[in-house]
Amino acid sequence: MSCRVAVLVSGRGSNLQSIIDKSKSREIDAEVAVVLSDNKEAFALARARKAGIEAHYIDPEVTKPVLIGNAEDNYINTLKEYKVDLVCLAGFMRIVKEKIIAEFKWKMMNIHPSLLPSFKGLHVQKKALDYGVRFAGATVHFVTGDVDGGPIILQAVVPVYQDDTEESLSSRILKEEHRIYPEAIDLFSKNKLKIKDNRVFIEGDDGK
Ligand code: GAR
Repeated sequence: MSCRVAVLVSGRGSNLQSIIDKSKSREIDAEVAVVLSDNKEAFALARARKAGIEAHYIDPEVTKPVLIGNAEDNYINTLKEYKVDLVCLAGFMRIVKEKIIAEFKWKMMNIHPSLLPSFKGLHVQKKALDYGVRFAGATVHFVTGDVDGGPIILQAVVPVYQDDTEESLSSRILKEEHRIYPEAIDLFSKNKLKIKDNRVFIEGDDGK
C-alpha cells in the first residue's frame, strides 16, 4: 500500500515538487496527502495546490524559530486528521520539539544541504565554502530531538570547485536533494529502513 506523506515547508518548495512529481509518476511508492506551511506566502503552497494537493498555512504563533505550544498541537492534529504515515520536513525552517517528534517517532524525516554531521544549522553551503572542503552534499535523516542530528538514511556527495559561489554549490547540492529525498521516502514506504543503535540499515542494500 502506498504511504501517505505530509510535507512541511516554509518557502520555495523545490524538494516538495520532486516528491510530488515522483509520486505522481509512480517512481516512488508514496502519495502526498497534505502540505503544511508556517509561511502564508510560501511558493510551496501554490505548487501543492496546482498539483491538486490540499495545502494549509498553520500559524506558527511565535516569532522564534521553534514549533511549540498551541501551534505545535495544531500541526499534530492536522497531521492526524490526514492519517499520514510519514512526515517530511522539506525546507521547513522551524525547530520541531519533543511533542511532535514523539507523536511521529521514526516517522519524521528531514533533508539538510550538507554532509551531516558537518555544517549544521543555516547557510551551510556558505559554511562549507568558507571552510574549504573539497566535497559537500546532502543528507536525509530521521528527526530526533538532536537538531540536524538524527540517524542518517541517505547521503549524496558533490564536488566543490575552486570557482564555486554559494549559489553554484547550492544548486549542485539541490539537484542531489531532489534525487535522494524521494528515494528515502520510497525506502520508508517499502518498510526497508531499520534503525539499530542510532544507525539506519537498508534492507537488501549492504552499501557495497
Ligand atoms: C533545501 O536546500 C533544504 O535542504 C534546506 O532548505 C532548502 C529548501 O529548498 N533545508 C534546510 O536547510 C533545513 N535545515 P526547497 O524549499 O526548494 O525545497
